[in-house]
Amino acid sequence: MTLVSKDLLKASEILNREELVAIPTETVYGLAGNIYSDTAIKKIFEMKKRPFFNPLIVHIHSVEQVKDLAVDFPEKAQQLAKVFWPGSLTLILPKNDTVPDLITAGNNTVGIRMPDHALTLELLKNLPFPLAAPSANPFTHISPTKAQHVKNYFDGKLEMVLDGGNCANGIESTIVGFENDEPVVYRLGSISTEEIEKVIGNVSVRNNKEQAPNAPGMLEKHYSPRTKTYLVQDITDFIKQHPEKKIGLLLHSTDHKNFNVSNVIYLTKTGNLKEAASNLYSAMHKMDQLDLDMIIAQRLPNYDLGQSINDRLERATK
Ligand code: TXA
Ligand code: MG
Repeated sequence: MTLVSKDLLKASEILNREELVAIPTETVYGLAGNIYSDTAIKKIFEMKKRPFFNPLIVHIHSVEQVKDLAVDFPEKAQQLAKVFWPGSLTLILPKNDTVPDLITAGNNTVGIRMPDHALTLELLKNLPFPLAAPSANPFTHISPTKAQHVKNYFDGKLEMVLDGGNCANGIESTIVGFENDEPVVYRLGSISTEEIEKVIGNVSVRNNKEQAPNAPGMLEKHYSPRTKTYLVQDITDFIKQHPEKKIGLLLHSTDHKNFNVSNVIYLTKTGNLKEAASNLYSAMHKMDQLDLDMIIAQRLPNYDLGQSINDRLERATK
């Protein structure tokens, strides 16, 4: 049985003996291990059934630690760290020799972030090493935003979930790297492109495999429920085409009240995109347990966090 608890000492004890603990962050729960332990890191890949070509993010508690991990910390990266850390921003920086290749999938860069969650920051301060932590879900499945989601996935296989409640932001960090000193967003996430641009000016977005060979994790199929999922603009029309089906609806506005569908979840009723992001994965987990024929998600406005949510839903339909 997997222990679900707030016991920080227990979590440190487990991590110190090269085992894994799922940790809460403000984005999603992570499946964490000592970055310097090959044993622990291999367990992460094994438990997630994640291919080794997909690198892991290193979690730190202090900006000072960047110099232990990266050989360069460009000015724009420092500005972003100053504004957004602790928070939902992962910086891709040229790696130091001491960062194991298993973490970076052999790349010469390393992804680093300081999560904004009191319990996990405390844990990181208590440990003599940073934590590698991919989202705590099996490869390609929906990311967990509650301790119970993690337990459902790994019960019995994982020693402990450090229970930090519901993840406030609800979708993964935004990943920013640099190519010839120019900032590039490799993964849309919890911090919108607009917010990033307010700090460092124009950034390009290259968030698919073709555009971003440097971001090997940008898989087409990801964040997927077992139930067939569709992302559509016109809900009414789509439902008409599937009269006999048991449907779940993920909506984000109050415009559509009269669907003859019993399973409806509003990600937000006020058009608040932050609220929609924070509810997205738990709504998908819920829908996926209802034995539906299909989940139909209403496409969000394509700006700000709407863009990040559409990105996730798009991949969930593959
Ligand atoms: O919000 C988050 O970032 C969560 C929490 C737990 O911190 N973590 C997370 O990890 O989403 P994961 O492993 O599910 O996604 C990490 C992504 C992958 O797509 C991976 O390819 C990319 O980060 N990544 C990691 N290191 C990289 C690197 N050196 N270069 C390019 N992409 C990298
Ligand atoms: Mg993930």
